[in-house]
Amino acid sequence: MPHKHSGLRIAAFASGRGSNFSAIVDAIESGELKSKAVGVISNNPDSGVIEFAESKEIPYKVINRNRYPDESELNNKILDTLDEWNANFIVLAGYMKKIDLSIVRKFKNRILNIHPALLPSFGGNKMYGLTVHESVLNYGVKYSGVTVHIVTDEYDKGPIVLQQVVPVYDDDTAEILQKRILKEEHTIYKEAIRLFEEDLVIVLGQRVVRKRENAED
Ligand code: GRF
Repeated sequence: MPHKHSGLRIAAFASGRGSNFSAIVDAIESGELKSKAVGVISNNPDSGVIEFAESKEIPYKVINRNRYPDESELNNKILDTLDEWNANFIVLAGYMKKIDLSIVRKFKNRILNIHPALLPSFGGNKMYGLTVHESVLNYGVKYSGVTVHIVTDEYDKGPIVLQQVVPVYDDDTAEILQKRILKEEHTIYKEAIRLFEEDLVIVLGQRVVRKRENAED
């Protein structure tokens, strides 16, 4: 039977090296995902993710405060770019800026973010990069992990799509833990995208749950 879903048109927002985005593109190229990466928006012209997009001939745009000092102009530029690419889904892959409400509203339940810890712990404003893993080690938790969640207007607080637990070992440094977690990020992000690609989940308030194929089950 032919699939009724032909994949998402994914725009990625990223500020850094872009390893999550490149894992997603790998999954698309290998046929694991049937979505298309239609473009990359970055605030950082010198980011690895831009270099990567160039190498794959994926369209990209640098949109930042230097180029668009006016906030509403900047957000309109983002929205216009998404329109231009016909994007219907957004993945944040290490994007260091808050997503404006106008974008959150237009893409309701269609924006995912990945966070390198088990939310709601070790999240929120300023919790990014090594700071997250340093906080995890300082607190002394025995498990950390990865969270993929839907983006809402509250930082790191949207409905959780998937989580993966990663153990913390006694001799971990923040760098070692970050590496162990990043590896899991690359697997879990594409799994989360697949759930939306295949239309397998619904959002019920704060919960993301599997759709039940047969109501009588
Ligand atoms: C990842 O750790 C992700 O969880 C966080 O930012 C980092 C991005 O890494 N949101 P990369 O640019 O995808 O390599």
